Amino acid sequence: MFTMSRHQEVSDHYSQLARICEGAAKEIIRCREVLVVSHVDADGLTAASIICTGLERRGLDYSPLFFRQLDAPSLDLIADRGSDLVIFTDLGSGMAGEICERGIRALVADHHRPGPAHEDAPLISHINPHLIGADGARELSGSGTSFLLARSLAESPGANDDLAALAIVGAVGDLQDMASGQLLGVNRDILEIGQKAEVLSFSRDIKLFGRQTRPVFKMLEYSQDPYIPGLSGNEDACIAFLKDCGIRLGGERWRRWIDLTQEEKACMVSSLLRRGLRGGISNSRLERLIGEVYVLLREREGTELRDASEFSTLLNATARYGHSDVGLSVCMGDRGEAFDRARDLLGQHRQNLVNGIKLVSEKGIVAMKGVQYFDAGDAILDTIVGIVAGMCFQMADRSRPILAFARTPEGQLKVSARGTQDLVKSGLDLSRAMSSAAQDVGGVGGGHNVAAGATIPPERREEFLRHVDSIVCLQLNSSAKL
Ligand code: C5P
Ligand code: ZN
Repeated sequence: MFTMSRHQEVSDHYSQLARICEGAAKEIIRCREVLVVSHVDADGLTAASIICTGLERRGLDYSPLFFRQLDAPSLDLIADRGSDLVIFTDLGSGMAGEICERGIRALVADHHRPGPAHEDAPLISHINPHLIGADGARELSGSGTSFLLARSLAESPGANDDLAALAIVGAVGDLQDMASGQLLGVNRDILEIGQKAEVLSFSRDIKLFGRQTRPVFKMLEYSQDPYIPGLSGNEDACIAFLKDCGIRLGGERWRRWIDLTQEEKACMVSSLLRRGLRGGISNSRLERLIGEVYVLLREREGTELRDASEFSTLLNATARYGHSDVGLSVCMGDRGEAFDRARDLLGQHRQNLVNGIKLVSEKGIVAMKGVQYFDAGDAILDTIVGIVAGMCFQMADRSRPILAFARTPEGQLKVSARGTQDLVKSGLDLSRAMSSAAQDVGGVGGGHNVAAGATIPPERREEFLRHVDSIVCLQLNSSAKL
């Protein structure tokens, strides 16, 4: 452990990254204007908003720009802007070589696995947990990496510590707390900084989605992770279950999880656990019912913004539909027009997810030797097919990773892949599998060991599947022999 001040200890990984950020911040404050390029998801939005706020507080000019992925046309577009400096957040590491080839003066704050050419790429600075031996899938997100940079950018020590709240929203948006039921590694340092700054609190609680905003019976009905047989998807059964627990559903308004008393919460959790055990849910799935939850103390209670998980879904509902500007404004403090618009978009997003899950359950999932997959064609948007895949995966066979295909508006095939931490422990690395199989068929891919993606030519789907299947089999088998 490295002592940062008398009161606060941070991990070695934190201090190594903080040292890199110190140098990077010095370069940034010399610039006149900065282009901030980020990714269209909750982590990308929070990452960009953290950097933009940091720049704004230093009086620097900035403009944000969002991409679904960095490819040759998007890099050409960025190069054409001729900016003083480009800060890439939550993307860029996989394309370090291509960025520098175009003469872009760039700084990358990302957590995706760096591409092979990154070592020779003359980036101004490359901040990425993988480069110091930390786990970019679980221990630090794109927004977390950006937070460390924003912290170094602060005019006075601690002046940007309030941005820790957004960094945690990004980490939760990238599901970094899922594997062990709580955030780990550098994320924990950030959590403590946020707690000290009085913007965050964390505690063990029920892990169902909608604790702040949903009536309790709806929270149960819509539970996907863990899926509770007999309750998930069945409103009547959820109402009867709550009545059995002696929980009043509402008075003037429906009662939400945050409205229940401690006794009611305890009673509901123990009844759920009993019911799950009777229904044959495995212990490991049931354990996911309880875990650490993250509350944003400066946000109004009962709103999506108060809970890190609900906040991140609200952001996905904007950025994944081409409305990153709305999500960015919410992150940067707009609680009027942008927040209202984001809530409208959230309603549509929820409906799309429900429709997507229904489609997959009707179409079915095809099992291969090493992987399983479904092809949504044009029926699910390519920008949310990964979320749908993750949700379906909760109810599906978890012994092999799931792949999901969807058409992009440009006529390409988008692939999203999701695995489990158990499979990662057995040797699975979806980032390598997707990037190598995509390359073999003339596409691009990358990401994390447990969640990755690719874009490939549609006519080469079968070939791609064969490649991924054999790579995954090899990953899992070769590690079994070690
Ligand atoms: O799009 P999806 O949610 O499936 O992406 C999963 C992960 O894979 C994300 O972190 C994304 O940035 C990464 N990805 C990538 N290259 C691609 C597609 C996705 O690095 N071509
Ligand atoms: Zn991310």
